[in-house]
Amino acid sequence: PEKIGTAVINLDLEGPVISRHLYGHFAEHLGRCVYGGFWVGEDSDIPNEGGIRLDVVEALRKLNVPNLRWPGGCFADEYHWQDGIGPRAERPRMVNTHWGDVEENNHFGTHEFMALCELLGADPYISGNVGSGTVKEMSDWVEYLTRPGDSPMARLRRGNGRDEPWRVPFWGLGNETWGCGGNMRAEHYADLARQYATYCRDHGDNTLYRIAAGASDDDYAWTETLMKQISCFGCEATPRNFFQGVSFHYYTIAGTWEAKGSATEFTADEYYRTLVRAQRVDRLISGHSAVMDCYDPGRKVGLVLDEWGTWWDVEPGTNPGFLHQQNTLRDAMVAGLHFDIFHRHAERLFMANIAQTVNVLQAMVLTDDRERLILTPTYHVFEMNKGHQDATSLAVHLRAPDAKRAVGDGELETLSASASVRDDRVLISLTNLDAEDSVALTLDLRGRTAGEPAARILTAERPQAFNTGDAPDTVAPRAFDGVERVPGGLRAVLPPHSFVTIEAPLS
Ligand code: AHR
Repeated sequence: PEKIGTAVINLDLEGPVISRHLYGHFAEHLGRCVYGGFWVGEDSDIPNEGGIRLDVVEALRKLNVPNLRWPGGCFADEYHWQDGIGPRAERPRMVNTHWGDVEENNHFGTHEFMALCELLGADPYISGNVGSGTVKEMSDWVEYLTRPGDSPMARLRRGNGRDEPWRVPFWGLGNETWGCGGNMRAEHYADLARQYATYCRDHGDNTLYRIAAGASDDDYAWTETLMKQISCFGCEATPRNFFQGVSFHYYTIAGTWEAKGSATEFTADEYYRTLVRAQRVDRLISGHSAVMDCYDPGRKVGLVLDEWGTWWDVEPGTNPGFLHQQNTLRDAMVAGLHFDIFHRHAERLFMANIAQTVNVLQAMVLTDDRERLILTPTYHVFEMNKGHQDATSLAVHLRAPDAKRAVGDGELETLSASASVRDDRVLISLTNLDAEDSVALTLDLRGRTAGEPAARILTAERPQAFNTGDAPDTVAPRAFDGVERVPGGLRAVLPPHSFVTIEAPLS
């Protein structure tokens, strides 16, 4: 069966710019994300530059990774950066109590992370330790990284082989401080965030964008407490807010925390329930934005969703603390849906970071036990959508009354879309979430004329399809001939469970 819909896009009515940072990434010292993922060490047989895996870098460079958040997550609030500098053999070891209770040798530290960012062409986003660190420790880290000229921390950096300061635009003031980051009350943390932010100085020409650790899911009260404390009334004059961004986290979990469900074996009902949960992020962004609007009507403060993605039961036989999961076409549908929602909130949502880039949760790439590299279906959505980064958003008005599915006692809209324009080219992303029905969609393009379209599709026989080392292209983008020019726009027939991008020149 085929459903029918229309999408009206006014090509000459431009909305806000889609921040490229909505396509951000996250790498934690967790399982095989850093060790075995990004980092193999200089003595490895796997081709590497200074210990960093080159196949991973090469794959990620194709995504135009705008920023990379590190070293956590929960790990950030037990990480002491001075343990991760200097000769590797002499670095102290610690236990990673959050993730697998394994020993951390600190071989991947500040210099290695900054080298990785340089290889990727990504802006560093460092999460500082508020939970178990000190103000001085965080202040020293900022100085070590960014201070030009002569100073104690700049001298220490030079002694470790780096003369010039690095540019560090993004700085996190702790992580999940309501939980693993210190189990604090919002009021207590809001004061700490102001205090830590005060001593995270701008050195030389480096300007920090400080991000306060925000809420979980729909904890709007947490956001409100932070927003009330964002600027300094009546105390020492501050030229700008204490923090420039406020974060929140939201994971798509179809089951419960105790039984999240398999990443690869799921029923149609579980498939649809997953998408309903994913769609919830729309309401959450609206909710946090509404609170922020009360305190920051000019929308100067960015909302930062610095952890998002699917969270399934770990792959059978893997360490439960390593959060290693496969990634199917269902995960790609979740990613496509998130990006459409992100684009619609471009005015307030400044940054988003998928958790996590390699081998952990909803990863871009997986390395298997023969050290092959697998590109996941989610990777392909990031790649197909990268043209939206820093493009100007266009509103998409969808009319598809029968593109719906009843799920539990709610309803899922099974068609999702977003669009942007840059350099006289339009990029349209379309997701048909329906697992059985195709959609015949008329794209009513107004205001300008679209030329010959080029389309690509990501789909597979079943939503459960995934890629492996032996079958790496089961879910991979292909040229799509289901789009044609019609008077007034385009017509596309979207197969079930498919993600399609259409690019066309505009005149
Ligand atoms: O991404 C895995 C974990 O999820 C992070 O460490 C933590 O911030 C969140 O709870």
